Amino acid sequence: MSTSSPHILVTEPIPQAVVSYLQNTGEVTVAQKGAYQSEEQLLQDLPKYDALLCMLSTPVTEKVLNKAKNLKIVANFAVGYDNIDVKAANKLGIKVANTPNVLTEACGDYAMGLLLALSRKFKEAEQYLRDGKFTGWEPLGFLGMELRGRTLGIIGMGRIGQAFAQRARAFGMNIIYHNRSPIDPKKEKALDAEYFNDHKELARRSDVLSLNCPLTEETHHLVDRELLKIMPQHALLINISRGAVIDEAVLAEALHDEIIGGAALDVFEEEPKVHPKLLSAPNTLLLPHIASATHKTREAIGMLAAEAITSVLQGKPDDEIPNLISR
Ligand code: DGY
Repeated sequence: MSTSSPHILVTEPIPQAVVSYLQNTGEVTVAQKGAYQSEEQLLQDLPKYDALLCMLSTPVTEKVLNKAKNLKIVANFAVGYDNIDVKAANKLGIKVANTPNVLTEACGDYAMGLLLALSRKFKEAEQYLRDGKFTGWEPLGFLGMELRGRTLGIIGMGRIGQAFAQRARAFGMNIIYHNRSPIDPKKEKALDAEYFNDHKELARRSDVLSLNCPLTEETHHLVDRELLKIMPQHALLINISRGAVIDEAVLAEALHDEIIGGAALDVFEEEPKVHPKLLSAPNTLLLPHIASATHKTREAIGMLAAEAITSVLQGKPDDEIPNLISR
């Protein structure tokens, strides 16, 4: 491949505006849907490329990076980057970037939407109507949880956690949260939010528990059998972070046994697989990882990742490259 025009691999179809922008910088290959969800294909193809614009479903492992001899930058089309071995990349001098900020509002809206849909049983009620069972207004049909005065516990009070808290406050909910450290006191005050150092105590006190933390060694299976037992029996669980923050098999059992009141899950431990017992669990809303899926946000995510790639390929200094991650 010629050295004059860098080669850029995009591992899934993305908004055309982003592809056009990247084409000003190099030769762009956009893969077909699902082409790079395993190491094998990456091991084979990545050595040809100077830059990678990848998805949260692209496993950018140490093995893959070691073989990618021409690679200068990995830009993730996501804010979460647990799919990338950042340490290995940094050791090899390969830069890594993600896309914070631009998806905050879309994800905040979506979390609120999940909570409303789950607490008011939208899915079951709509299915009932479609099944032709709606034969008249029922005073005892589909009674759900009213949000005003209930407590929302948020684990992970970053931008998205705060966006959700802001919306939930507007619905009259009380906000409590757990985070590595308390947020800026001004922001805490604006949200009227209370910090809990102990996430178990937070779970005990939450009518709704929302997971908005990154997936790390510390948060892997943070929601386990013990935590589910601590939660109130009526409590609802919402996850738009990463699937493996929950022990999915244990959650599926807890939902079947009515240990908690329900769950809305946008993310799964082994996407795109969904635990079979979750598929049959009561009061469970299962969505295909679409928290950031608005036209505006997905284009903004792509542009941010593309800007990082362009900056690196143009040889800009690190402080001019957006959202570099180092380990
Ligand atoms: C991300 O960007 O990490 C989100 O999972 C997208 O929904």
